[in-house]
Amino acid sequence: MTILIAAAFDDDEWRSWWPRLEAALPGERLVRDRSKCDAADIDIALVANPPAGAVQGLPSLRLIQSLWAGVDKLLADASVPAQVALARMVDPLMNATMAETALWAVLGLQRGFFDYAVQQRTGEWKQHALRRAEDIEVAVLGLGQMGRCAVDVLTRQGYRVVGWSTREGAAELPRVLAGADIVVNLLPLTPATRGLFNADTLARMAPGASLVNLARGAHVVDADLLAALASNHISRAVLDVFNTEPLPPEHAFWSHPRVTVLPHVAAPTDPRSAALIVAANVRALRDGQPLAHLVDRARGY
Ligand code: GLV
Repeated sequence: MTILIAAAFDDDEWRSWWPRLEAALPGERLVRDRSKCDAADIDIALVANPPAGAVQGLPSLRLIQSLWAGVDKLLADASVPAQVALARMVDPLMNATMAETALWAVLGLQRGFFDYAVQQRTGEWKQHALRRAEDIEVAVLGLGQMGRCAVDVLTRQGYRVVGWSTREGAAELPRVLAGADIVVNLLPLTPATRGLFNADTLARMAPGASLVNLARGAHVVDADLLAALASNHISRAVLDVFNTEPLPPEHAFWSHPRVTVLPHVAAPTDPRSAALIVAANVRALRDGQPLAHLVDRARGY
């Protein structure tokens, strides 16, 4: 049988992934161009942002393994066969990378480092009052693999951390938002969480609080966040993900002095560890063992 790799990789990414997948999957036939093999031979697809239709019309397909943690795009793609097992990427090293980014953002907000970066551009020498970690309440939204890891790291650093996930129930969210100095979003994108940060929820955040979005751009209604920043209700936003990626050059976030923009790099998949995780699931399928990290399509992650 054959493993199809359907990925929107650039040349560097292919150079990085291909040898690692080959090394991790000895004896497996890997193809990246499905026209080079018989479609009926493909029983596994490894996917990363595949173009629509990339895994359609594969009669033997038994596993779609995402190389990305988030599977919202795959679930929204009607050409991805709904009856085939779909697994997301769960890599403890990726969780740790995400927690590092959350810590960097929270630490930068606590100590005013993002403000000092803006001051440097205008040559402004101005010191702000020190805030200690224990002065800061951080709400982590999303208590999956990444959220739990971020909670641990932030707690160890001395912050007062409150976690919330959709399982806690929507009724609890206003209280969590109202108490936090910093809200870190690590929720999966589902119909229930799309547009979660809108005028209503942003207004429920404490005056002067900051938002760190490391999950998906569609969690945020951009115009509502810009309005909350304009009124100074929200003091700062640190954003890694956007409704449109790459973030269009004309978007107001780019030049906003109280918005920090990252190009979707909070927790990139690392092929060094991820290839081994893929290989373990491939082996499980071949050996008739249970597959790991299967997506519950009804739940949305
Ligand atoms: C990145 O956003 C991922 O889903 O892995």
